Amino acid sequence: MALDQSSIPNNVDLSSDRRLQRALEQWQPNFLDWWKDVGPEGFQSHEVWLRTAISVEAGGWAHFDYVRMPDYRWGIFLEPQQADKKIGFGDVQGAPVWDEVPGEHRNALRRIIVTQADTEPASVEQQRLLGKTAPSLYDLRNLFQVNVEEGRHLWAMVYLLHRYFGRDGREEAEELLQRRSGSSDKPRILNAFNEPIADWLSFFMFAMFTDRDGKYQLAALAESGFDPLARTTRFMLTEEAHHLFVGETGVDRVIQRTAQIMAAGKEPRAEGAVPLEIIQKYINLWFTLSLDLFGGEISSNAADFFAAGLKGRFREDGYEEHKGLGTYKMQTPGEAGKLVEEDVPLRNAMNEVLRDEYVKDCQRACDRWNKSIGKTGLTGVSVKLPHRRFHRGVGPFAGLPYSPDGALLSQSEHAAHIAHWLPSEEDFAYVRSLMHPVTARGQMANWIAPPSKGIDGLPLDYEYVKPPAA
Ligand SMILES: [Fe+2]
Ligand SMILES: [Fe+2]
Repeated sequence: MALDQSSIPNNVDLSSDRRLQRALEQWQPNFLDWWKDVGPEGFQSHEVWLRTAISVEAGGWAHFDYVRMPDYRWGIFLEPQQADKKIGFGDVQGAPVWDEVPGEHRNALRRIIVTQADTEPASVEQQRLLGKTAPSLYDLRNLFQVNVEEGRHLWAMVYLLHRYFGRDGREEAEELLQRRSGSSDKPRILNAFNEPIADWLSFFMFAMFTDRDGKYQLAALAESGFDPLARTTRFMLTEEAHHLFVGETGVDRVIQRTAQIMAAGKEPRAEGAVPLEIIQKYINLWFTLSLDLFGGEISSNAADFFAAGLKGRFREDGYEEHKGLGTYKMQTPGEAGKLVEEDVPLRNAMNEVLRDEYVKDCQRACDRWNKSIGKTGLTGVSVKLPHRRFHRGVGPFAGLPYSPDGALLSQSEHAAHIAHWLPSEEDFAYVRSLMHPVTARGQMANWIAPPSKGIDGLPLDYEYVKPPAA
């Protein structure tokens, strides 16, 4: 479909629906006020080498240029509609997909969309101060790329709310701009999105682990019987891939730098780098916080969403059976936390099924990090993912004293060790003490290795972010 040249770039023929277009044009200045108020602080008039989605066609959607962030063309893009598309799973498997919201699923779908939508502006708010301490212009640009795209993901969700949910949807869209990450009276919906991200190692961990939860949630919604949601999330996933790249390679580069120093027989602290123990603690923290975002291990909501065709599995096509009628073997804490094995109806285990895919993906990244350590010549050290029973705040293991190896401890033993497993205030303060801006072209902060290449074929010393022209 041709690009609609209204003030809101889109491929949904927005100009043919005057009421909708007007409603979104009224929301637009509020969005911009929000962006200027709590978006990246101190860089609103810088020129940033950004990628902008201008259409969904392969190759056409990634257009690079210098842009001042408030001028970014946030648009609405859905993957093209497929003829005769059928719902792929649940009780409604084989029925035609829905182009409008079925009345009986209206509340559930609105809740699903609002919960996803809320994370997008929340992450921009959490990261708003990071630009002041970026380790390089390359990283600074990547931060801003992630930020503007999370803004576009908000647009994607707000379009669905406005177009398909009437007055309720418009009210929800307003509230998305009113809640604030970390606010005491109007916080963001999910807990992990109310924690400030005060240092770049946290940012890389967030983009690696927390954004990756987002990938799996979007992938499950990309299967939805509500076709506009499926088509929107499919396109969001193409942008999301870059965020995950920023996170995974960011953590990798911090690990590389530390391993290089250790391989040379030196102390990371003495060299102004991050000791491997602290990196491991950050992994323990962000991996487990992100595991919680998948929801409880046994969930009637998850069962209902699957049965109704609202939310499928990761790559539902790859499964043989699509009704979800089997069982799932799950270990749960019985008496006093001792593990028992249970056969859980598969539909009730859908959160865990999605979490399994996520854990596999995180393990793949972790293996890569260990390869990077190996390449420095350093032996006998590695990083690892903690057990998924460790440090849980949601589900049957929430609050139970399991170790990162998955062993059940006494409360006192657990308390005695926790400072070895999760970052302490001192650890955070140490990492923060390393955060100084590096703004010369091609230069890197000392605590991070350079990336293997620049952005979109450009050299590493390209001026990815420029101060405003005088
Ligand atoms: Fe996003
Ligand atoms: Fe993202």
